[in-house]
Amino acid sequence: QLKDNTIIIVLGASGDLAKKKTFPALFGLFKQNFLPRDVKIVGYARTKMDQPEFHKRATSYIKNPNDDPDITAKIDEFKALSTYVAGDYDKGEAFDELNAHLEEIESKYQSKECNRLFYLALPPSVFIPVGKNIKEHCYVSRGGINRIIVEKPFGKDLASCRELLSSLKKYWTEDETFRIDHYLGKEMVKNILVLRFANVAMNAMWDKNSISNVQITFKEPFGTEGRGGYFDEFGIIRDILQNHLLQVLSVIAMERPVSFAAEDIRDEKVKVLRCIPPIERSDTLLGQYVSANGKPGYLDDDTVPHNSVCPTFAATTLWINNPRWEGVPFILKAGKALNEAKVEVRIQFKDVTQGIFKDIARNELVIRIQPSEAVYLKLNAKTPGLYTRAMPTEMDLTYKRRFTETNIPEAYEALILDALKGDHSNFVRDDELDVAWKIFTPILHWIEGKDGQRPKPVSYPYGSRGPKELEPFVTKYGFRRNNEG
Ligand code: BG6
Repeated sequence: QLKDNTIIIVLGASGDLAKKKTFPALFGLFKQNFLPRDVKIVGYARTKMDQPEFHKRATSYIKNPNDDPDITAKIDEFKALSTYVAGDYDKGEAFDELNAHLEEIESKYQSKECNRLFYLALPPSVFIPVGKNIKEHCYVSRGGINRIIVEKPFGKDLASCRELLSSLKKYWTEDETFRIDHYLGKEMVKNILVLRFANVAMNAMWDKNSISNVQITFKEPFGTEGRGGYFDEFGIIRDILQNHLLQVLSVIAMERPVSFAAEDIRDEKVKVLRCIPPIERSDTLLGQYVSANGKPGYLDDDTVPHNSVCPTFAATTLWINNPRWEGVPFILKAGKALNEAKVEVRIQFKDVTQGIFKDIARNELVIRIQPSEAVYLKLNAKTPGLYTRAMPTEMDLTYKRRFTETNIPEAYEALILDALKGDHSNFVRDDELDVAWKIFTPILHWIEGKDGQRPKPVSYPYGSRGPKELEPFVTKYGFRRNNEG
């Protein structure tokens, strides 16, 4: 664990990710005294700016709506331990300057053993030069620990991912590398293993005998506004399905790990992912939003090519060829510019045996990852009164009602803390990435026209529930909408 004498270096410190996620998470940890004693934070990016300007940016997303004086004081302390260095990503000399700055900070630490945690909040085009330059110019070798946190995207397909992995491996060991998929830091995703393996009741119904279909859904109510350039190159499948939703699937579907140790968990995730064959075109529905209700369509975004066929919505069904899951469709769905913000897992159980009840609602277990974290089980109960009739109802564990005193941590806070502790459980291992890309690469190549004509996505209005083709799509895989909606 990195306890004392630690510097956290945020590369890409002037970018959006750092501003919106990394610095607020670092501040959240600092405020709760989870950062190492005497920690220092150093921002690094190309933009030239003085310290006050850097402090302003780094704290611009930290929330203090009521001007709480305690938080204001903490923000000032946080600023006081943060400094900034400007420099290029591809020049060794610039990293020498960064190193000189780090050494100056370290000269004030009592012990000679200093740790450095490098956080790459950077576009993938500079991962390799930055990984190399840090190793060659900023790596502490006096007995301290070096770690590197990398953000997705890890490549664009199997070949480019392998190239990226092997290039970075020249400089950083697997043990030093922490690949973030921030969905693994979300409280409800972390809860899945506990729900499954700490409850006999859950465990007993967790297979093809009881479950009809599983849907993992990501919905966002806004379009690509401003991020069209990045998005058009990657598309919704690389942005959400291949990483975030597949990670959720793997914790839903994996077998019980031998222990909660990182490698035991990741071994089981890899094992289940290896049972999934590459996605079939016929199991895929692609959509792109069009203008509606005064909101612009995807093609109206100036940063998007006018004839783009990039999908902003995708639904695709994965099959797991193992004895537990054979024949159970896992439907992953994600879309931008939809009617609401919601991420959830919906496990729909099979029909009860016909006979005493007719047309009765199916049981469903819903794990709502966000917003308003919840787990609820839809079940049928007797309608209260002097007659025997069943009605659908719910056993509901909504976090904000049940755990009123508890603050749910931000995913990035949880993950940065894990990286400081050296716990890899919620980070993506190299072989996990490899198998994830194997599942998705053929469909991505088809979408990109590598085998001929590019498929044209169906359109859906901005702010809608998705393409009208979605309902027949999920019905095809056995999903039955219960009467109560
Ligand atoms: C990112 C995607 O990985 O996840 C974004 O690149 C998306 O497009 C974001 O908006 C969603 O994260 P969250 O935590 O808001 O669900």
